Amino acid sequence: MMTATENAGTHLPRSSSSDVPGAQPASSAVVEAIALRKVFRSGASEIVVLNGLSLRVSAGERVAIVGPSGAGKSTLLHILAALDTPTSGTVYCQGRDLGALSDAELAAFRNQQVGFVWQRHHLLADFTAEENVAMPLLLRGMARAEALSAARSWLREVGLQERLRHRAAQLSGGEQQRVAIARALVAHPALLLADEPTGDLDAQNADAIARLLEHLHHTHRLTTILATHNPVLARRSDRVLRLERGVLVPGTAAGGELG
Ligand SMILES: Nc1ncnc2c1ncn2[C@@H]1O[C@H](COP(=O)(O)OP(=O)(O)O)[C@@H](O)[C@H]1O
Ligand SMILES: [Mg+2]
Repeated sequence: MMTATENAGTHLPRSSSSDVPGAQPASSAVVEAIALRKVFRSGASEIVVLNGLSLRVSAGERVAIVGPSGAGKSTLLHILAALDTPTSGTVYCQGRDLGALSDAELAAFRNQQVGFVWQRHHLLADFTAEENVAMPLLLRGMARAEALSAARSWLREVGLQERLRHRAAQLSGGEQQRVAIARALVAHPALLLADEPTGDLDAQNADAIARLLEHLHHTHRLTTILATHNPVLARRSDRVLRLERGVLVPGTAAGGELG
């Protein structure tokens, strides 16, 4: 999928053991990104997408990232999810330096610590709603009956108790996004990342999904970072940051930047 680039240099000394509590640079931060640079090379040209970006998100916080298309929002979220690596800079999640993890540790991190909601749902079309939601639990080796039971309880929570056995392909766009949200949360991740989660929906469904995400954030005390053009999602966040020229600056939910 995404190209792993070289992780050239870190700005803080890596701890010898990431299980040592003292390894955390800041104890209450779920995510701390320090001096992230991301440079894409195509042929002879270079695109500097992130240019020394830093971000600290505390437990329970809900942060919206706005900015025009191409600003680098998805690039940042992919790096925070360990789906891509920065050209340089460091990401700590729960005090662990993602750049210091082995491939197996990264796979476990993605499965257990991060829930990701994409603009398009990325569900498995031929699997049922409950099988899609159970997938992260099955991947980590949970027994099928137990995983499906947890999936059903999350599907009830997102309002899809009548759709448990529907195949993903048989669901509407709004329903598919509800399944994707349930799947992102079923493993109780430390961090929920959402990349324009309402971007593909009509206004009414977008509004419903925005409210659902807000409700889940509060009832489950999530830590949420979302990239969005949706003013409702942005306005109801604790902080709005605008990605501009490769760094984050204070932003507003209203105004011309929201397309
Ligand atoms: N894999 C890639 N290779 C080259 N350029 C990329 C790649 N991914 C993203 N880009 C470029 O990086 C910039 C930021 O993209 P992106 O993070 O998707 O922005 P946003 O999500 O804010 O719309 C864009 O100019 C895009 O073309
Ligand atoms: Mg994007």
